[in-house]
Amino acid sequence: MEQSQHLAVYPGTFDPLTFGHVGIIKRGLDVFDQIVVAVAVKTSKSPLFNLKERIALARETFADNDRVTVESFDGLLVDYVVERGAKAILRGLRAVSDFEYEFQMALMNRRLNHQVQTVFLMTDYRWLYISSTIIKEAARAGGDVRGLVPDPVYYRLMERLGRPADSTRGMLE
Ligand code: COA
Repeated sequence: MEQSQHLAVYPGTFDPLTFGHVGIIKRGLDVFDQIVVAVAVKTSKSPLFNLKERIALARETFADNDRVTVESFDGLLVDYVVERGAKAILRGLRAVSDFEYEFQMALMNRRLNHQVQTVFLMTDYRWLYISSTIIKEAARAGGDVRGLVPDPVYYRLMERLGRPADSTRGMLE
């Protein structure tokens, strides 16, 4: 398949999708015409949401945006990128802590296929401290995570934790 410079693949576990991810996708659309959100089938993490749920939540979040597609991928990321006809992997960088891991992944991916480039965007300062894990942890303990995740994710998270959606404590920004 011919490789398109207008298409980027944004891979991750997305367990679940947060506003950090959403921010990168939206800003990624300033650079690329189309973004494929690629949800990893295999993950070393023990996800709270299964693959179908992680995909459904991302699709619901971007239901109104026809420039964003959500799919799953298995196996090597660079193979999927080529198969999808893209040339670029989009990743977000938070603080210094992300750098080593991202650098390692980008170099490995380049070693595996030097025609696929990784493009990094700095995560918006509002989302520098969040991760899917910390949000799940706070929600499990009864904290209010509204405003950190899209609404479909918030409601599904509350449901999964067996809690009514308005029972969490905290401050909205
Ligand atoms: N703002 C806030 N948080 C963000 C963020 C942002 N912009 N971007 C990522 N995060 C968080 C995520 O919530 C996630 O949190 P968690 O660790 O608590 O779950 C964490 O940063 C990193 O997750 P994510 O961006 O989803 O990436 P990942 O490390 O889960 O995914 C794959 C890694 C799936 C992309 C990678 O393992 C892969 O490519 N696998 C395929 C196999 C392969 O090709 N391997 C060789 C390549 S090295």
